[in-house]
Amino acid sequence: MSFLLKKEDRKKIVDALNQGVGREIAAIIQYLHHHYMAESIASPEIIEMFEKTARDEMRHMEVFSERIAYLKGVPTTKPWPIKTGGDLKKMIKDDLEIEYTACELYKKHIKLCDELGDTTTRLMLEKILADEEDHVDQWETILAKRKIR
Ligand SMILES: [Fe+2]
Ligand SMILES: [Fe+2]
Repeated sequence: MSFLLKKEDRKKIVDALNQGVGREIAAIIQYLHHHYMAESIASPEIIEMFEKTARDEMRHMEVFSERIAYLKGVPTTKPWPIKTGGDLKKMIKDDLEIEYTACELYKKHIKLCDELGDTTTRLMLEKILADEEDHVDQWETILAKRKIR
């Protein structure tokens, strides 16, 4: 039960989760933007992947935000920087970069939860980390297997 956590530890978890929220909001916007911009330059499969991934990120944002509210914090509404523009290859590389950042960030946050004894948040982060690793795999596969102009 998270309210067994000390107030200052709860704040550390909330701050970490809010980094995640900012990153997830950026990912949602970036993926949706790519979904619209790829309309004339990508295959229907890739266009759909952008949208599907945006929806995954939206779920992550929701999970983080609900946990923050439960811990008596306030979820941020500010996105991390968003990258736009370029050809399809650049779009996918920019998306891959935010996925790498997410994996790195959430691994760090899993460690923090371990140190502070917040098992519930840790489990939540582990599930989301698995999704982010799937996203990395998805884009790495696309870049490796397809000829993208
Ligand atoms: Fe995510
Ligand atoms: Fe992701």
